Amino acid sequence: MKQIQHADDMRFWADEQRSLHKTIGFVPTMGALHTGHLSLAEAAVRDNDLGVASIFVNPTQFAPLEDFDQYPRPLEEDLAKLETAGIAAVYMPTAAEMYPRNFSTYIDVEQVSQGLCGGSRPHFFRGVATVVTKLFNAVKPHRAYFGQKDAQQCAVIKRMVRDLDMGIEIVEMPIVREPDGLAMSSRNVYLTAEDRKRALCLSRALFDAEKKLRNGERDGGVLVQGVRDAMRNVEIDYVALVDAETMQPIREPIRPVVLAVAAFLPTARLIDNIKFDPNTDDAGSQTGSGR
Ligand code: PAF
Repeated sequence: MKQIQHADDMRFWADEQRSLHKTIGFVPTMGALHTGHLSLAEAAVRDNDLGVASIFVNPTQFAPLEDFDQYPRPLEEDLAKLETAGIAAVYMPTAAEMYPRNFSTYIDVEQVSQGLCGGSRPHFFRGVATVVTKLFNAVKPHRAYFGQKDAQQCAVIKRMVRDLDMGIEIVEMPIVREPDGLAMSSRNVYLTAEDRKRALCLSRALFDAEKKLRNGERDGGVLVQGVRDAMRNVEIDYVALVDAETMQPIREPIRPVVLAVAAFLPTARLIDNIKFDPNTDDAGSQTGSGR
């Protein structure tokens, strides 16, 4: 597996592969890789001639008091996992190269970035959209893979790619869960044993709502209130039923929707969601959900 640090070298490698008519599937990550990330890497390797991953803990998507410094960085383990997944090259730029002095160009994706995580982390999607654009410019992928767990991030990236004519196919992969239903996240390592147990109310509340949706419940207020009730033992950031494309609140799931939750536990902020399409009655395959 090739390790590349500089954007120029990354572009050179990507151009070379493209000139040989190889397709590139890209998985951007911040490292601390778990099975969810590896499902993206495996899909990128399977569906393309070459899989590329990046590891970069992006400072512009963290607010000053968030966990940028504590964010886990098990680099050697991450590299071994990517190599096992069959990744051909890993791009690991430095913060100094990504954000040189006087860096002044940011990408704001309007509407989709507002509300939900954009409400409680106003800086977040600007940082994500900017860094993902820079990573795309270096890696030059044909396809890029993101996890449904960050459903709003997926919607933001899809909108950005469409609006800016980036010509990259965005592939959204199902949430990977622990056997007891907890959505996998690099931040789960922050949870104490007691908080880990309390965190289960997020996925349980969503699975219950999913059952109601499948049984024909179409009142968004009832669905949201049911989830709020089931999450009464944690500090709720938001519970919202939103249009899957625009991320704007919707009262009735008459189009594909996301039922999304976020909660503050003492040691971590967690997010989770289910997707539901009333036309196909498909609540999104949540692999390993243990339901
Ligand atoms: O989802 C993540 O890990 C990050 O937000 C991403 C897409 C790698 C950008 O830093």
